[in-house]
Amino acid sequence: MAETEFAPAKINLCLHVTGRRADGYHLLDSLVVFAGVGDQVSGTLADPPSLSVEGPKAEGLTGEGDNLVLRAARAMGVSARIVLEKHLPVSSGIGGGSADAAATLRLLARLSGRALPEAAAVLALGADVPVCLAGRPARMTGIGEGLAPLPPLPEVWLVLANPGVALSTPAIFRALARADNAPLPRDLPRLRSAADLAAFVMMQRNDLEPPALALEPVIGRVKAALSAQAGCLMARMSGSGATCFGLFADPLAAHAAARAIRAAEPGWWVADAPLLP
Ligand code: C5P
Repeated sequence: MAETEFAPAKINLCLHVTGRRADGYHLLDSLVVFAGVGDQVSGTLADPPSLSVEGPKAEGLTGEGDNLVLRAARAMGVSARIVLEKHLPVSSGIGGGSADAAATLRLLARLSGRALPEAAAVLALGADVPVCLAGRPARMTGIGEGLAPLPPLPEVWLVLANPGVALSTPAIFRALARADNAPLPRDLPRLRSAADLAAFVMMQRNDLEPPALALEPVIGRVKAALSAQAGCLMARMSGSGATCFGLFADPLAAHAAARAIRAAEPGWWVADAPLLP
């Protein structure tokens, strides 16, 4: 019988680039959360293995070769017929490919009864795959292998907006001016309300935002469009962009904001969703 796993969007509330490894990968200190919008990975055990890609954001993706879903399936050593329903824009800073890989690992573990691959094999699929596999709010360090769960966060809603430009993560890291920025505060404060969370996050940074903005100035318009909405507590770019998020305390305000941005910018991808606990 077919099983389905949800692959939620990953949001970097902040992302500090604190160093660089000898192999060129960057050391990060990032607060990562997940939103209730994402892709779906479904499948059944079958031989030969196959992948078909469907859904509103399937364009340009094939079920062949280097697709992260197939790489994840190979890492599990399980043969399955998999359907990826793509809702998240690709190369957009919200971890679509990593979330799909993590959902594939969960799906195939469930279908086959096999254990998940060891940590190093999960990390080898991509630096964001371990946090997506954990699927809970976390402080992420190292290149993505250091994960500490965050204490319970307050209820908060996210509006996500992407202007339809795909950004290459390696290109953004290459364009980064400094790779020795200050980490997050060692101890995070207790964040009791959406306003507390937004105020704390606002004091931090996404160090990938300046290089992304230099490559794609439209990101400035995306952030401004989110910030201008009634009830938006703060807005920032996620990951290596170009998707930006706005934080809202009120789901109705988030929904109205998403509708307003969609009406003003019909070419943009816009979603509103709760932050997942
Ligand atoms: O691991 P992943 O395939 O997602 O990374 C894509 C590219 O982004 C890497 O090849 C590297 O150039 C860059 N990267 C980095 N530091 C990280 C994560 C990614 O430099 N922590």
